[in-house]
Amino acid sequence: MKIIVTGGAGFIGSAVIRHIIKNTDHSVLNIDKLTYAGNLSSLKEVEDSVRYSFVQADICNKPAIQDIFSSFKLQLSNLHLNLILI
Ligand SMILES: NC(=O)c1ccc[n+]([C@@H]2O[C@H](COP(=O)([O-])OP(=O)(O)OC[C@H]3O[C@@H](n4cnc5c(N)ncnc54)[C@H](O)[C@@H]3O)[C@@H](O)[C@H]2O)c1
Repeated sequence: MKIIVTGGAGFIGSAVIRHIIKNTDHSVLNIDKLTYAGNLSSLKEVEDSVRYSFVQADICNKPAIQDIFSSFKLQLSNLHLNLILI
């Protein structure tokens, strides 16, 4: 399964991505705008995985998100960490 994590460079999102890559066979696409809160160094231990991809984009930018969905041929299975309270 391909899992989209938005806000994946943040505190919770990066922990979720590390967990998925280390403990499952699923793939992750991290979509993050990289605001002041985004920190890709939290993902160092998984960034070389073939199952991990990162795209810098604003989730409010509909055309950019549509392009990402097209290029990754994605089906929707989305952990939207900017909105979900965990
Ligand atoms: N950390 C907590 O203890 C906690 C507790 C309860 C709720 N929450 C909520 O969970 C969510 C995530 O928390 P967190 O601590 O990981 O936040 P965070 O600030 O560490 O991370 C948010 C991430 O979202 C990215 N982002 C912001 N706007 C974006 C946009 N328009 N498009 C793409 N990416 C964008 C940022 O660059 C950042 O990497 C927040 O909504 C927060 O309010 C967090």
